[in-house]
Amino acid sequence: MPAPPSSSSSVCTFLLIFLLAVRASNCAAKATKNTRPPRQLSVDYYAKKCPQLEQIVGSVTSQQFKEAPVSGPATIRLFFHDCFVEGCDASILISTKPGSKELAEKDAEDNKDLRVEAFQTINKANELVERKCPGIVSCADILAVAARDFVHLAGGPYYQVKKGRWDGKISMASRVQYNIPRANFTIDQQLKLFNSKGLTLEDLVVLSGAHTFGFAHCKQFVGRLYNYRGTKQPDP
Ligand code: HEM
Repeated sequence: MPAPPSSSSSVCTFLLIFLLAVRASNCAAKATKNTRPPRQLSVDYYAKKCPQLEQIVGSVTSQQFKEAPVSGPATIRLFFHDCFVEGCDASILISTKPGSKELAEKDAEDNKDLRVEAFQTINKANELVERKCPGIVSCADILAVAARDFVHLAGGPYYQVKKGRWDGKISMASRVQYNIPRANFTIDQQLKLFNSKGLTLEDLVVLSGAHTFGFAHCKQFVGRLYNYRGTKQPDP
């Protein structure tokens, strides 16, 4: 069970991140079969086949958080951007095939500012997991566990992560644009998108609290500082 929530909305944000039910090129090799039976997610999914999973991922996330703290917000955002496009299947970690006309998700315009530290974290964790439990754990599960670890390392609660996700094979940049909210979306547009994923207004508000953590590039809000809707004034 997750730890009981405190009154802070950012804590609620962290609690709800696990509602989001996102792999590097070496992870892509794990997505093999086309037809796969549905899996029942569970907290102890790897209890028999890879009991050390969370400990292994934890060793990587805690080291990353010390050495490159931006890995925290970067990984949480990576998880979100994966989950909103074709579900939490780590398809965002797949690289564009050399010579392919269709770019992969990670190369979509809306994903260009995802930080390299997030990809490095999942890659490192995946390498260690593969050494101990070869071919058992999906990158989608590694990403979900790593995102939870960073929530906790940043001062949020610890919650149990259900596991058993399949890794996706399909990763298309063309599927990103309409599934990831933009900085200039109205609330109505954001809500429509969240509703389409089965998430509510409350989820939208709470999850948006993730922005108490991390950075935004100036280009995302410079218009509101100096030229709000063409007025040449700041956003009132
Ligand atoms: C509600 C609609 C959302 C919009 C419009 C939005 C938009 C943005 C934008 C424009 C940035 C700055 C990106 C940059 O300049 O590099 C950002 C950063 C971030 N977003 Fe969101 N986002 C939304 C929802 C979420 C959700 C649901 C989560 C996770 C639960 C999330 C987690 C983050 C984090 C952690 C960062 C900081 C990333 C970093 O420092 O590397 N966002 N978001």
